[in-house]
Amino acid sequence: MNASVGAAAVAVPPRNPTLAAPLRQPLAQRVLRMTAAFWFAVAALGQLIFATYIAGFYGRATLGGHPEWWNQVMPHGYVAGDRFFNGVLGLHLAFAFLITLGGLLQLLPALRRTLPAFHRWTGRVYVVSAALMAIGGLTMVWGRGAVGDFPQHLAISLNAVLILTCAALAWRHARARRHDRHRRWALRLFLCVSGVWFFRVGLMGWIVINQGPVGFDPERFSGPFLTVLAFAVYAIVPLGVLELYLRAQHSRRDGAKFAMAGVLTALTLAMAVGVASATALMWLPRL
Ligand code: HEM
Repeated sequence: MNASVGAAAVAVPPRNPTLAAPLRQPLAQRVLRMTAAFWFAVAALGQLIFATYIAGFYGRATLGGHPEWWNQVMPHGYVAGDRFFNGVLGLHLAFAFLITLGGLLQLLPALRRTLPAFHRWTGRVYVVSAALMAIGGLTMVWGRGAVGDFPQHLAISLNAVLILTCAALAWRHARARRHDRHRRWALRLFLCVSGVWFFRVGLMGWIVINQGPVGFDPERFSGPFLTVLAFAVYAIVPLGVLELYLRAQHSRRDGAKFAMAGVLTALTLAMAVGVASATALMWLPRL
């Protein structure tokens, strides 16, 4: 090697290993990472709009002393004199706002790296909020009644049980410092908590694509499409896709990573249609 080139090479300061690592990854790994980042960007945007709607509509109604406005959206909303269930629903709405923002913060890698203590504290708040949302939701569905029919009530109850299970396991593995298992259960928890958001995005996307309600009765809010959608978004699809993603991430076969990246890109584009539809038809008009 030419001496001056050797000297120049020695003089170059070592690259930041955290920045350099992704650049050294094989193409398939990088493509998979980029599609996951694309998925997260669309989900984060959609969930920020959802959180803005919760604060803008329910927050404004509640703080302005008009909880009866909740009933513009919910058939089983505010009931004059029913202090217990009004309280449960009020807390549910407040925690819905917190948990939607909290989940996004927990998933930001830069924040986890630079502020680990913040990640631990928001993680504790997130897990407790998730448990309260699930228990409060179950109380409302089976104690007071909720929109939708029996199969949808079963599906959202399954979602609540999954939230409680994932929250307990994410917490346990974090305390035991089993980071890889903690990460897996925390991701599952995030997806289960996002189930209600997926439901709204899936429903509105379906209505826009079909130019109207197909496969269900909009008056009674029941029908085969809603049953399939509920089980799909509250449990099967997000958890199934995550499992495939985690396997592809650790697979030695580039083909598995490229295939997963393709599936994730298609799902993200479908999700983007749903986010745009839910924003235009459901959230923005109520702000
Ligand atoms: C954990 C994440 C959850 C979030 C972010 C969330 C968010 C919300 C929001 C924003 C509403 C108001 C309706 C709207 O404007 O769209 C609502 C209502 C409601 N939620 Fe949740 N929720 C979650 C979980 C659950 C679970 C797991 C259950 C049941 C097991 C549940 C049961 C209910 C019920 C019964 C209502 C009243 C509306 C109705 O009549 O159906 N929620 N939730």
